Amino acid sequence: MKHLLKLQDLTQKEILELLNIADQLKFEKKNGIAHPHLAGKVLGMIFQKSSTRTRVSFEVGMYELGGTALFLSSHDLQIGRGEPVQDTARVLSRYLDGIMIRTFEQEEVEGLAKYGSIPIINGLTDYAHPCQVLADLMTIREYKHSFQGRKLCFIGDGNNMANSLIAGGIKMGMEVSVACPDGYRPDEALCRWAGENGVFTCTPDVLAAAANADVIYTDVWASMGQEDEAEKRRQVFGGIYQVNDAVMAAAKPDAMVLHCLPAHREEEITEKVFEAHADEIFEEAENRLHAQKAVMVKLMKA
Ligand code: CP
Ligand code: NVA
Repeated sequence: MKHLLKLQDLTQKEILELLNIADQLKFEKKNGIAHPHLAGKVLGMIFQKSSTRTRVSFEVGMYELGGTALFLSSHDLQIGRGEPVQDTARVLSRYLDGIMIRTFEQEEVEGLAKYGSIPIINGLTDYAHPCQVLADLMTIREYKHSFQGRKLCFIGDGNNMANSLIAGGIKMGMEVSVACPDGYRPDEALCRWAGENGVFTCTPDVLAAAANADVIYTDVWASMGQEDEAEKRRQVFGGIYQVNDAVMAAAKPDAMVLHCLPAHREEEITEKVFEAHADEIFEEAENRLHAQKAVMVKLMKA
C-alpha cells in the first residue's frame, strides 16, 4: 500500500490491518502511552475546500505521532494559480514525507500520486472520502463487533460518502443498500462492481433500503461545491430522503446511526434521531483521528 486514494484500491486484509493499527493507537492514547512513530516527518495538507474534522484530526494526529503538519491552503499555493499538478507533486515530494489533499477532482489526487514520489492521502474529493469511511468502519466494528452478515444502509445523495461506503462496506463483507432519488445515484461503475462482488441494492425506496439494517448512514443533500444546487436539491430530497423515526422503525431495533458531519438537522436527519445517536456519531468523529494516524503510520513510517 503506497497511497490512500480510494478504498477500491485496498484489499480487505489491508483495511483490517489499518483498523487494527487504529484500535491500538486509540488504546495507547487513552492510556497515555506515547507513540512517536513519525518523529521528524512532515505532512503537507492541501485544502481546496473547507474542513473542521479532517484538518484538525490530521494536524493533531501528526503531532501525536511526533511529526509536523503544514496547512497549505490552495488559495496561497501556486496550484491555485494554475501550476500543473505534475510539477507541484514533484516539488513537494522533495520537501515533504507525505501529502493529504482535499480537492474537487479525483484525477488531481491520482495525478499527485502518479507524478510525486511520496505517499498521497485523499482527504475528500467529489468522488470519494476514504479517510472518513475507515473511521466509520472502525466505529461499526467497535459497536457491532463484526462486519460479516451486517447490513449498512445509506440514505441520501449518491455522493462521495455513498461511493466510499459502498466500496468499504462491500470490501468488508457487509450487505450495502442505498436509497437515493433517480438522477442522484452513486457512481455507476462502482454500483456494478458492488453488485458483482457482494450484496448491493440501490433504490429510490427509503424504507425498503432501511429494512433490517444494522447501520443507518446519511450525509448532506448538497455537498461542498454544490451550493448553487442547494435549493433544487431541497425540493428533490425534502421530506423523503431523511433519517427519521419511520426509517429507524424499519431498521433493526438496535441499529446504529452514523453521519460524517457536518449535519443539517431536519434535512437529511431529524434532531430527535441525531441526538438519540449522538454518542455513536461523535465516537465516529473521534475515530477520524485514530484511523488517520493508522493510515499515516502505515504509509509514512520508514
Ligand atoms: N467529515 C468531514 O470530513 O468533516 P470536515 O469537512 O469537517 O473535514
Ligand atoms: N458529502 C460532503 C461530505 C463532507 C464531509 C461534502 O462533500 O461536502
